[in-house]
Amino acid sequence: MKFFIDTANLDQIREAQALGVLDGVTTNPSLMAKEGITGRNNILKHYVDICTIVDGDVSAEVISTDFEGMIKEGEELAELHDQIVVKVPMIKDGVKALKYFSDKGIRTNCTLVFSVGQALLAAKAGATYVSPFIGRLDDISTDGLNLIAEIRHVYDNYAFETQILAASVRHTMHVIDCAKIGADVMTGPLSSIEGLLKHPLTDIGLAKFLADYQKGN
Ligand code: G3P
Repeated sequence: MKFFIDTANLDQIREAQALGVLDGVTTNPSLMAKEGITGRNNILKHYVDICTIVDGDVSAEVISTDFEGMIKEGEELAELHDQIVVKVPMIKDGVKALKYFSDKGIRTNCTLVFSVGQALLAAKAGATYVSPFIGRLDDISTDGLNLIAEIRHVYDNYAFETQILAASVRHTMHVIDCAKIGADVMTGPLSSIEGLLKHPLTDIGLAKFLADYQKGN
């Protein structure tokens, strides 16, 4: 399973990259705004900055909601860096844009996916990644992980190449459960990755090893 970090914070991206297990970055307009990155030029520059830190794919989201606007923006984003993946919302014109980009060899991430039907459409349109938001489904008492399992089942039925990018991951158990189900990618905060490290028996065991070493030296 690929690990993406879901942030526009350069320090956190550097930290995840330094851990050696980072495969990419996802961003969205809210994450950009959270870092105070505003204005088209600053946003484009920030995407390039992210690409220089991380070795893998970097999702950059279009703001337009009409086909022509998405194409114009997406082509500009794709030109920025060869690691850029154009993030397109799951709306009618978005599906058309996914197909357009797919035909042109521009990689895409279909975002704001909350149902199997939407994921099926994204795959049919040739999306590189589909992003089901599991945390936001959990937030409204709907099983987000079940959606990942259902999409996995449907995609495997037809050998769709679209990769399932479990998004809106909030914590370490989401990461583990997505891995069990067979999500191709997960994107979450740095804490969801670092949480995988932790086990009290590791800490206790290490403390004892070090104490025993000290006794003999
Ligand atoms: O990747 C999608 C993500 O940014 C949404 O996460 O935590 O805002 O639901 P969240």
